[in-house]
Amino acid sequence: MGKSFAVIGDPIDHSLSPNIHSAAFRELNLDSSYIGYRIPKGELEGGIQGLKKIKIDGFNITIPHKIEMMKYLDTMDESCSLIGAVNTVSNKDGILKGYNTDMDGFLEPFKKKELNIKGTKVLLIGSGGAARAIVAGFAKEKAKSITIANRTLEKGTSLSEFAKTIGLEANAVKIEDVNDTVRNYDIIINATSVGLKNEPSVISLDGINEKTIVYDIVYAPMNTDFIKKAKAKKATIIYGYEMLLGQAVRSFEIWHGVEAPYNAMKKALLGGF
Ligand code: ATR
Repeated sequence: MGKSFAVIGDPIDHSLSPNIHSAAFRELNLDSSYIGYRIPKGELEGGIQGLKKIKIDGFNITIPHKIEMMKYLDTMDESCSLIGAVNTVSNKDGILKGYNTDMDGFLEPFKKKELNIKGTKVLLIGSGGAARAIVAGFAKEKAKSITIANRTLEKGTSLSEFAKTIGLEANAVKIEDVNDTVRNYDIIINATSVGLKNEPSVISLDGINEKTIVYDIVYAPMNTDFIKKAKAKKATIIYGYEMLLGQAVRSFEIWHGVEAPYNAMKKALLGGF
């Protein structure tokens, strides 16, 4: 029998994951299916029961359930416990195992493009769930230091404390205090949701140069204002879709145990724009 997969969250109708995974199934002739399943906030427990009942083989989790889903796992790998959020679950005979592929997905474009992280100075804007996975990624790859800029300073401070416990030099600042300092960083990441609605970037990128790596985790629109400002400075760009693709590839490999068809998945993803 074919295997079945889903992505759960709310909203879910614009999710690109069903397209990406279906393209991979077609490419490898797998008799599997992947659907988007809307589960509103507050209804996660019943939703998970339903998925178990239909013997779902695996699912991805997106906003707003990434943290609450931790409660319903039977076991988890270390990416998941370290980050404190789950975005991928496998179901083996009713045993749910959680993973967090955001960290590996975030790092994947650096590996593909052979961009160095070791010893770099990083500026991370935002302090939500995605930012936490990114901090874990920079610790794993031995960045030198990370400055966390957030609208709400307390959340930034708490993330910088986490960064210190896993081996990074870290500090937190308010977003409006960043602007004159951007030239001091090797890598600058937008991990806020700002840009999704075409809003202007929350920081100015005056002062960066072509050696600066600028990474936006917002993937739609592809060319956010933040990315446009980075392009104007001829910086090295990493698009949000590259992280999305990286995490989808990793989920695929967890579920299927074979190498994911990267190019077919990329084509399906870019066709979605
Ligand atoms: P995710 O799981 O995608 O990381 P999240 O946990 O809701 O989402 O985090 C959203 C991030 O975007 C937070 O850092 C948030 O800042 P606050 O901690 O101050 O809420 C940031 N963010 C959202 N809207 C913003 C805005 N208009 N200006 C600046 N930062 C914003």
